[in-house]
Amino acid sequence: MSSASSIEFDPSALPAARSVAHHSRPAVRTIQVGLLGLGNVGQAVARLAAGVTPLSERGWRFQVAGALVRDTRRARDCPLPARLTTDAAAFLRGSYDVVIEALGTIEPARTLIARLLGRGIPVVTANKALVAAEGASLAALAARRGTSLRYEASALAGVPFLGALDARPLVSDLHHCVGVVNGTSNFILSRLAADGASFADALAAAQALGMTEPDPSRDLDGLDACDKLMLLASIFGWGRFPPDAVDVCGIRDVTGRDSAAARTVGCTIKPLVCASRDGATVSGFIGPTLVPLDHPLAALTGTLSGIQLSGRFISDLCFSGPGAGPDITAATLLDDAVESLSSAPTRLRLPRVPAEPLAAAPAVTEWFVRAQFPGFVPDPATVRSVLSGFGVAVQHVTGAEDEACWLLLAPASRQQIVEVEAALRETHRIRCVSFRAIGGACAWSMTRA
Ligand SMILES: NC(=O)c1ccc[n+]([C@@H]2O[C@H](COP(=O)([O-])OP(=O)(O)OC[C@H]3O[C@@H](n4cnc5c(N)ncnc54)[C@H](OP(=O)(O)O)[C@@H]3O)[C@@H](O)[C@H]2O)c1
Repeated sequence: MSSASSIEFDPSALPAARSVAHHSRPAVRTIQVGLLGLGNVGQAVARLAAGVTPLSERGWRFQVAGALVRDTRRARDCPLPARLTTDAAAFLRGSYDVVIEALGTIEPARTLIARLLGRGIPVVTANKALVAAEGASLAALAARRGTSLRYEASALAGVPFLGALDARPLVSDLHHCVGVVNGTSNFILSRLAADGASFADALAAAQALGMTEPDPSRDLDGLDACDKLMLLASIFGWGRFPPDAVDVCGIRDVTGRDSAAARTVGCTIKPLVCASRDGATVSGFIGPTLVPLDHPLAALTGTLSGIQLSGRFISDLCFSGPGAGPDITAATLLDDAVESLSSAPTRLRLPRVPAEPLAAAPAVTEWFVRAQFPGFVPDPATVRSVLSGFGVAVQHVTGAEDEACWLLLAPASRQQIVEVEAALRETHRIRCVSFRAIGGACAWSMTRA
């Protein structure tokens, strides 16, 4: 007889379990999916749901029971769902095991998700704008209703890393992140670095491959990367950024010659997002950045994405993989859907954030500066002495030829660099284009000089 605290072992259970594992096909479970949006991502979800995948081999079948769109007459490149509607109320009347949201704007997505979570239906989303702005309150609603909101596909959909951090509050107590999060910018800068293409040619190649929107400015001017940084900050529970907390710079000023000059100092130029939180203060920047070639993010060429995280207990934890596209996003969404149905409903990390926005501190980094001299070949000694007159130490000068040279400057804020640029322009007619540098680029370049 067993006591209340002992565990009884029933040997007959073991062969039975084995026979299920080895000889039985898994029981088939058909999941009724509701799809909010049937655009690039929604169609990829519908195609994947209908196909044969490792999920179907494990007994999961998906039936897209209904989809909400703006225009039911639009041609779709996917099996059509049982019900296609433009009427949100009609969509909500459907019966779903899980709803996948791929609408792309905060409203009506927020209202619809709140209604679904309120009914206890798990929701999976790829919508970064929504998660950044409303994720915490929706996750709290899900927890109250005993269901889940999952959003792995909203942040680096091709690099599913949030699940690895989920339920690990110590490892994910983060204070620094740096990443390559915009595939289009990375593709363009990789082309400049690889074959010295002009910026216009590299952009044209990205457009020919269908990588950009008709207006590519959100990618090229750092705005998409900024949205992703805000999303990451909210997922990390850092709190709201004040508007001036992040120094945002686009990639349009980078040239093939900048890339070549970077190579001469053992570095490459990558489109980075970078942010650090120290207590209630945050600083960050977005833009083309000089990175030593031995830095993990330097290896991410083409459309690859990646992120490096540091915190109280971990440092330089890296995740990288393919940039987001409809198919990988759909795979991450369906994996999330299965997870939301297989496990006890958990609240994915979206910690309560402080009501007060964080305070902003200027990001201080090293700099890589192209100085252009009108009509004469620069003399490095003169360059050093001119800049030291402005209180900025020049660590290294490269490529002093052909009316331009590239300088590696000791750590400074954007404000200091702007003042130096203005003074050089006014007093010496020297035009500067400045990029940030990280990862000890100055020290690295000096060992290579
Ligand atoms: N594209 C990617 O590779 C990718 C990767 C990761 C994450 N995401 C995220 O996934 C989401 C969807 O992206 P997407 O590229 O699939 O966008 P999309 O092609 O523009 O598709 C949006 C879909 O939502 C529908 N829709 C939009 N507003 C609606 C409204 N008010 N009422 C009803 N239906 C509405 C549209 O209907 P119609 O078709 O009738 O116009 C369309 O089917 C976004 O949050 C995006 O950030 C996308």
